[in-house]
Amino acid sequence: MSRKSSMSIALARVVVLAVLTSLSVRRTFAADNGSPWGANYFPNVPLVTQDGKTVHFYADLLKGKMVVINFIYTKCRDSCPMETAKLAQVQRLLGDRVGRDVFFYSISIDPERETPAELKEYADKFHVKPGWLFLTGEQSDIEVVRKKLGQAARPGENGLTGHSTSVTLGNEETGQWMQDSALDDPSYMAVMIGDWLSSWGHQSPAPSYAEAHTVDADRGSYLFRTRCAACHTIGHGDGVGPDLFGVSRFRDHDWLARFIATPDKMVADGDPVATSLYAKYKQVQMPNLRLGDPDVAALIRYLDAQTAKTRTSARSAGQRLPEN
Ligand code: HEC
Repeated sequence: MSRKSSMSIALARVVVLAVLTSLSVRRTFAADNGSPWGANYFPNVPLVTQDGKTVHFYADLLKGKMVVINFIYTKCRDSCPMETAKLAQVQRLLGDRVGRDVFFYSISIDPERETPAELKEYADKFHVKPGWLFLTGEQSDIEVVRKKLGQAARPGENGLTGHSTSVTLGNEETGQWMQDSALDDPSYMAVMIGDWLSSWGHQSPAPSYAEAHTVDADRGSYLFRTRCAACHTIGHGDGVGPDLFGVSRFRDHDWLARFIATPDKMVADGDPVATSLYAKYKQVQMPNLRLGDPDVAALIRYLDAQTAKTRTSARSAGQRLPEN
């Protein structure tokens, strides 16, 4: 491992520890004083779920629950698909706690144009499981909710494209509330929700903290895990996007590098392969992750190496794989 990468891993640990220390201080404060934020703080406005049911924000969605809340709009091509795919990973990590004591809510910030049916279609694209509601409602009601959760657009900012990628994590009963980035490593978020919000008292199925720390020294592997794995596997079937097994062999190298760097531009320019992939994957567009050339090259090397590895282990297990 290079000196630089071991230093950045060490730094990342310090940051996580610092965050945890400040959080546990806040937790003690909240527990000692009871929750200062209840019906007196959160609005009880009506919202409509993806199944067309009317629910009330405080009474039905927050009271006595642990929650994960973000704001999206389904036409968003930039950060929202990545946010939703990462939260779906968090949902998988938390297993059956979601829907039992932890609830996920994605609230539309374009409610006048987004119907429950559209939200349902969007949720299906990301293989969302029960316990996660997609909500729409009156614009003015949603604005109040956004403001109370500290997620309102800043003055002068476009309310749609300028929306933050924050997720609010909270436990209404204990009054523990925090913001996390939706683009964070899903394992950290699962630990935050599964352990921190439960005052570390829950034997959660989320990975242990030690596991969440295994930062891989290899750049390609690290990038894949943090930027791609929310939507792709290599040899384990389709996710939100296609299985990338063999992709470095059956696609032209330059095409692949251009696609990973600027998938949005390739679709916009009418590249035939990109256009047909876009149609096939129910029009979820692979996001432009603003990767530089060295990162794209590291990812392609990783895809190639993983394909070879998957093939070798499948062969030794006597399985047949496509000849890519
Ligand atoms: C939010 C989900 C999402 C994320 C994150 C994502 N992708 Fe994709 N990817 C897709 C979807 C959906 C498609 C197919 C539709 C399309 O082309 O837009 C796709 C297509 C691809 C393809 C084309 C596959 C083929 O058959 O030619 C490659 C290569 C690819 N992605 C690589 C990556 C890499 C590398 C990363 C991480 C740096 C990544 N993707 C991150 C959703 C995602």
